Amino acid sequence: MLGSMEVDSQRQVDSSRQVDSSRQVDSSRQVDSSRQVDSSRQVDSSRQRATVTLRVNGRERRLLLPARTTLLEALRENLGLTGTKEGCGKGECGACTVLLDGRPVNSCLMLVSQAENHEILTIEGLSSQENLDPLQDAFIAHGAVQCGYCIPGTLMTAKALLLINPHPSREQIQEAIAGNLCRCTGYEKIIEAIQSVASR
Ligand code: FES
Ligand code: FES
Repeated sequence: MLGSMEVDSQRQVDSSRQVDSSRQVDSSRQVDSSRQVDSSRQVDSSRQRATVTLRVNGRERRLLLPARTTLLEALRENLGLTGTKEGCGKGECGACTVLLDGRPVNSCLMLVSQAENHEILTIEGLSSQENLDPLQDAFIAHGAVQCGYCIPGTLMTAKALLLINPHPSREQIQEAIAGNLCRCTGYEKIIEAIQSVASR
């Protein structure tokens, strides 16, 4: 009897172990399946696309884009407007400056959806077919362009300044272009060029 009780009790132990182990398997399956749900959500959100309508340089453009596309990416990669440059990609250099309703913005920091229902002006829209903008002429005349990488952004900032203040002081010009970094010119010729247009 004793021997059989030992066997029975051993069986109970074994069977309860089996139950425990099957529960462990079940619970680990539950964890796995919840991970699958999370990861499929991530994939869905990264693939989400939306139609956006932009008004760029006076033309309406409709694009189907991933929701996280920046205005800079849409301009350069989807509309081919490569005059707007990418420098730092995080709002520090001003190379990506475009005008939104006449105000300068860093297009690398703005989602394309945020630019809907606004007038966007890029460097390509600054001049007409026949003539350069007076600021572009002045930059050339004053030797304010060296490698040129920062120049589209700086020109757009200067344009925005002259739109709201046609006759800025030297200090106001310096303040306006403080967010446009230039590694080449030392800024002096850029300031002179802007001043020459402002004094007309
Ligand atoms: S690229 Fe946008 S601020 Fe530098
Ligand atoms: S002209 Fe080269 S960075 Fe400004």
